[in-house]
Amino acid sequence: MSSTLFRTKKVEQSIRDTEEPEHALKKSLSALDLTVFGVGVIIGTGIFVLTGTVAKNNAGPAVALSFVVAGVVCALAALCYAEFASTVPVAGSAYTFSYASLGELPAWIIGWDLVLEFALGTAVVAVGWSGYIRSLMSNAGWQMPEALGGREGADSFGFDILAAVLVLLLTAILVLGMKLSARITSVVVAVKVAVVLIVIVAGAFFVDGANYDPFIPESKPVEAGGGLHAPLIQLMFGWAPANFGVMGIFTAASVVFFAFIGFDIVATAAEETKNPQRDMPRGILGSLFICTALYVAVSIVVTGMQHYSQLSVDAPLADAFKATGHPFYAGVISFGAAVGLTTVCMILLLGQTRVFFAMSRDGLLPRFFSVVHPKFKTPYRPTILLGVIIAIVAGFTSLSELAELVNIGTLFAFVIVAISVIILRRTRPDLPRAFRTPLVPLLPIVSVAASLWLMLNLPAETWVRFAVWMAIGIVVYFLYGRTHSRLARGEEEAGATLAHPADGDSQ
Ligand code: ALA
Repeated sequence: MSSTLFRTKKVEQSIRDTEEPEHALKKSLSALDLTVFGVGVIIGTGIFVLTGTVAKNNAGPAVALSFVVAGVVCALAALCYAEFASTVPVAGSAYTFSYASLGELPAWIIGWDLVLEFALGTAVVAVGWSGYIRSLMSNAGWQMPEALGGREGADSFGFDILAAVLVLLLTAILVLGMKLSARITSVVVAVKVAVVLIVIVAGAFFVDGANYDPFIPESKPVEAGGGLHAPLIQLMFGWAPANFGVMGIFTAASVVFFAFIGFDIVATAAEETKNPQRDMPRGILGSLFICTALYVAVSIVVTGMQHYSQLSVDAPLADAFKATGHPFYAGVISFGAAVGLTTVCMILLLGQTRVFFAMSRDGLLPRFFSVVHPKFKTPYRPTILLGVIIAIVAGFTSLSELAELVNIGTLFAFVIVAISVIILRRTRPDLPRAFRTPLVPLLPIVSVAASLWLMLNLPAETWVRFAVWMAIGIVVYFLYGRTHSRLARGEEEAGATLAHPADGDSQ
């Protein structure tokens, strides 16, 4: 049985599958489109919302260093993603990569895991978006009825109607076609980047150097009773849970990591890229670099404008301008944030539908979902199904806890991708690789260690939720995927791959 669990799908087969006309996506994206997509999904709730929370609770002005730490972890993972995406240019991101290298069960596990990142991430960002819209509405004197204002702060029934409506609207846009989505995205990304630049340039004039003292606030013990809320690493080693100090920088990094989620989605669009071999690495690394630079600059400016202990938790960027007596900028920033979060949500949703599409094309999920629309050439069935489910989840979601679950799911995917790079170099040294990860196996190993380190800095309760979700996934695989997979049904050359795995050395 173990041989069927680890049957691999040939890379050539993955590429051939995309050429079956009924299951083919349109190839229309360039490197610039990919970078715009990347920036479109990366800059979002992380910088607009979480910066304030972690500066206040975990890191102080040193949150800028947390962004650097999280950025480095992502850059290491990006170098691994770029090799895989340029070798296996097929919809499905880490799922496809691991099917070609680790085998079917690991691929299923990763596909299931990516739901945490993409579907749950969509819901979390939709809820953050709706918060900004409500705050803009209240500026104009309008109030939503409490029951339709979401879970946060609702006493009894609460359904976040704005978040749900946003997800449904984006679903409709995605069904209509990739090119349309890319065009809308470019405009919105421009607005978002402009707003971030306004924060950096205008904010720099209002910085008070005294706010940087101390840059790394002294470590403070957390009151007892933290239990499962404490980072796993503190429980494992019996350390007293503490905030701030050097360890606080890492705790904050594991949370602001959310701000980087999305660069890997560029890889999920490989199949829709004109020249994936060249454009994929450019798109991934380019968008990651731009975002890291902007985050560090924004967090330095914002913690300089207002003392970290005074930063607002809901809208820290806008409120720092209010606090320094510049409400006009605050309004512009709130507006830009609300506009900007729409693309984050849309591209996360796009990523989820593409992974689902790839899994159903392989038979691990019903094949019904892998037929593309005859006119729009989009995988409309999974898009509509997922859009409706996520809209409901977004309606009932409370933002804070689920963001950590999104992070752990994403970091786990990074770990698998890095391991896959090493394995695929050994099993398929012959494959053309437009982009080669430098220093294999050292760099992927460092990437695995760095991702695991951030995971360990997440709360223990997040680990419990993650374990439960993954356990459900394994049950589903054994009840459905294992027998329905196209490899299992002998529709592909599984036997050949298993019987003659190519030997080769890694470098
Ligand atoms: N990186 C995205 C955000 O910050 C998910 O919202």
